[in-house]
Amino acid sequence: MTHIRKVVFPVAGMGTRFLPATKSIPKEMLPLIDRPLIQYAVDEARAAGIEEFIFVSAAGKGALEDYFDTAAALEMTLEAKGKTDALRALAPSRMPEGALTILRQGKALGLGHAVRQAKHLIGNEAFAVMLPDDVIKGPEGALAQMIQAHKKVGGHMVATMDVPRKATSSYGVLDVERQDGRVFHARGMVEKPRPDIAPSTQAVVGRYILQPSIFARLADLGPGAGGELQLTDAINADLQNVGVSGYQFAGERFDCGSIQGFVQATAAYAMDRADLGHAFVKFLNTRLEPQKMLTKTGQTYPFG
Ligand code: UTP
Repeated sequence: MTHIRKVVFPVAGMGTRFLPATKSIPKEMLPLIDRPLIQYAVDEARAAGIEEFIFVSAAGKGALEDYFDTAAALEMTLEAKGKTDALRALAPSRMPEGALTILRQGKALGLGHAVRQAKHLIGNEAFAVMLPDDVIKGPEGALAQMIQAHKKVGGHMVATMDVPRKATSSYGVLDVERQDGRVFHARGMVEKPRPDIAPSTQAVVGRYILQPSIFARLADLGPGAGGELQLTDAINADLQNVGVSGYQFAGERFDCGSIQGFVQATAAYAMDRADLGHAFVKFLNTRLEPQKMLTKTGQTYPFG
């Protein structure tokens, strides 16, 4: 039975979909309500018992690296002013000594290449990979759910969600052999299949539990889709040695790598916050009422 202690966060991407915001702010530092995206992923990892956090970063991501540093001057000022609430708000951004390592990818050659950078820090144990873009909202963290299932199933495991068939071409999709509750034992994964030939509707989401054998496959890997080193290709190449399964987590996933997903996540989290929800829903209703009226008369709402 493996204890998953380490997580790799690949955060070296350029975040071009959020330009110009990401010209000087890393995508992972964009605030979802009042916490940067990366904080949601770190909280989920902590809740799953992760002890070591490995960031695969890149030039221009200094704000992300500073975020997990001790802000000594700020903390002293807040303490002197007796601002205990503000001090408390900083707590989740603190890391225990030695728990955080930051690597540089150098060139953004793909997700597989990013994960490969962590080889010497992982050693010979199973580990997690989390893409902070995928924010998963639910009563229990998705990674904790996966780790629980992985204890029984082993092998490589990816998080999945069931998508409408017409959407398969936007995802990596599992070729499912058999289902056991939330676990989908698979023959492999297919990148962005057309709906008519997709082997299933179980779409891969940015959470992985990987065996260390993945590093040998990543070392051998040539460029895949988009000319990048694809993690999916390495998992498929390892199928002779290690089985792969999908775990359909309970929770709602938001693609915060896209503007639409980010806006939806902001609304969902705002609605559920005790201090914001009531006023926010009231505000939304004032916006939605005129739209409903127009829908009835067949007109379109004048967005923008
Ligand atoms: P994306 O495909 O979303 O790319 O990467 P991106 O650069 O972050 O964003 P856009 O498409 O330009 O807007 C998915 C995840 O993989 C990481 C990213 O940081 C993100 O967490 N990644 C991707 C790397 O760490 N290195 C890479 O070479 C590519």
